[in-house]
Amino acid sequence: KSVGVGLAHGKAILLGEHTVVYGTPAIALPMAGLTVSAAARHGTRTAPRDDHIDATIEAAADAALRRRRAPAGIPHVEITCGIPLGRGLGSSAACATAAVRAVADLYDAYRESDALYDLVQHSERQVHGSASGVDARAVAADTPIWFEHGTARPLTFGRPAVFVVADTGVSGATGKAVACVREVLGADPARAERFLARARMLVCAAADAVVSGRLDVLGQRMLIFQDLLGELGVSTPAIDRLVAAALEAGAHGAKLTGGGLGGCVVALTGSADGVERLRAALREAGAVSTWTIAFGAGS
Ligand code: MEV
Repeated sequence: KSVGVGLAHGKAILLGEHTVVYGTPAIALPMAGLTVSAAARHGTRTAPRDDHIDATIEAAADAALRRRRAPAGIPHVEITCGIPLGRGLGSSAACATAAVRAVADLYDAYRESDALYDLVQHSERQVHGSASGVDARAVAADTPIWFEHGTARPLTFGRPAVFVVADTGVSGATGKAVACVREVLGADPARAERFLARARMLVCAAADAVVSGRLDVLGQRMLIFQDLLGELGVSTPAIDRLVAAALEAGAHGAKLTGGGLGGCVVALTGSADGVERLRAALREAGAVSTWTIAFGAGS
């Protein structure tokens, strides 16, 4: 084979970001419209980028070599990323996933999803410090997922739900946000334990609401989780403005999604007519882009 191809897509975290780093579960949604593609070719690179993606490509090639499927040398991988960078939409995990998949395809090696996941996780840890793995699983999943301790299982909406993801236009900094949360939780371990127990309960209740189609309940859980994230210090006035605008436009709930400190907000509406009103309200409140993602009964 002379070219290996790899694909991945963006993601939005519905509930559980940050606390998932400490072992509580999270729910994530695929954003199939935000795609990343990668093409891998034999031969060494000419212009090394020397970033985490390069390190990932090298690790992926090494892994293939250990399985005696690759010639020595690092393949050239070209990545086309359609996900805005640094907005909490999974660009780093998706680029790493597409690159690893392309290398795997080129050498016809390690097709098992866990081997791919381990390589992407290695890359994610270099970017964010302590990465839970939810991004690595979500950017490779075709369905909404329930994520816990490194593994993902599909989650099905019991009733059609439409989400609008809105970009504050401010670059988030996941590594910085994760460090900020570590400081807040580390300052008072007893409080941290109570906090994580609350987060776990909220994510479990949200998953029940997803499955039973209780969108009003899901929206309430999103709002409570947004308050928790505010207490952890990762919300910002721009995020709070978008959340308030979403609620005013009739959303069931809204919250930041991903690392925070900038980045995006996810808002939930149950009706198709609600979507346009919601998008317009979010834009008016400062969103620079919006995306709509829909999941129906059975998807
Ligand atoms: C980033 O999308 C999600 C965080 O929880 C970090 C992680 O889980 O690795 C903030």
